[in-house]
Amino acid sequence: MLVLGIETSCDETGASIVEDGRRVRADVVASQILTHAPYGGVVPEVASRQHVATIVPVIRRAVADAGIAFSDLDAVAVTCGPGLVGALLVGVETAKALAFALGKPLVGVNHLAGHLAAAWLDDGNGTPPPSYPHLALLVSGGHTALIHIDGPGQTRLLGATRDDAAGEAFDKVGKMLGLGYPGGVKIDKLAATGDARRAATALPRALPGRDDLDFSFSGLKTAVATIVARRAAPFEGQELADFCAAFQEAVVDVLVRKSRRALAREGLRELVVCGGVAANRGLRAALAEAAREDGFRLIIPPPKRCTDNAAMIAAAGSQLYARGVIAGPELAVDPGLPL
Ligand code: KG4
Ligand code: ZN
Repeated sequence: MLVLGIETSCDETGASIVEDGRRVRADVVASQILTHAPYGGVVPEVASRQHVATIVPVIRRAVADAGIAFSDLDAVAVTCGPGLVGALLVGVETAKALAFALGKPLVGVNHLAGHLAAAWLDDGNGTPPPSYPHLALLVSGGHTALIHIDGPGQTRLLGATRDDAAGEAFDKVGKMLGLGYPGGVKIDKLAATGDARRAATALPRALPGRDDLDFSFSGLKTAVATIVARRAAPFEGQELADFCAAFQEAVVDVLVRKSRRALAREGLRELVVCGGVAANRGLRAALAEAAREDGFRLIIPPPKRCTDNAAMIAAAGSQLYARGVIAGPELAVDPGLPL
């Protein structure tokens, strides 16, 4: 079974071909980061225009990389939400035209389900796919959630952020520290050379004593804004690296604590972590340590499958197609589509 996945929900134009739901035959991502960087964030109209310009070459490249013909495809899967409406439309209308022209089934994929499906892709290390039931920690630019997953499409939301998503907090703090957009990767890099214990100020952990599974990052963000505003000069050099390490530790600490609490409360023994922030080295290391201590199985896809990509959409599309969940030509985009 060969499924083409198309992803255009935000600022990456992606096309990928996945075989039997697991084996990545091709994975092409055209990033728009350099286009949006001067604006300090993603400009929706600019993103849509860039998707229009790159979507066809990106799809052609994926088909060529996989060494197949368009006629070999079994289905065309595409992200239909959540995301930027104009950006989503480019992918969905392209997928519809392609599916119609090829006479192949069309599959609409929820971007968040796509992130979760990344854990099923063969990572080259022989890691078996997740088993059911398991807990998923979804940490991206727009979402932070703990989800109990009983089976394909059987999800129960245990907790989510009440304000900013984890990735959003990284990006906003990155901006405050003068690191530009997107801040997540840059903070990760600087934190690796910093030491949180050397940072002069303690940063707050949201909802530390509360017995719920929700998150909140706005207090942490405000704390950073206050510290930055009170300083006579911007953070630089080692001091900047140490502060990044302290901020990252504050975010990671909460994510790890709540994940452990959710695993214990739900009696689950497997944790899947996905979304752009799952690429963070501090989070990966802290979760690996928690998994060793608590004895749960930890599955985190390689970093390039955590950030937006089309292979995860092809994987989720393959699962839906196998279950007979097929969309018609009326498939619409939904910028606020819930999981
Ligand atoms: O999943 P994703 O690529 O797009 C969304 O669906 O939102 O996630 C993007 C988010 C951004 O906020 C970005 O800063 C963050 O993931 N991110 C990271 C890292 N790589 C990406 N945050 C922390 N450390 C990273 N290494
Ligand atoms: Zn995403």
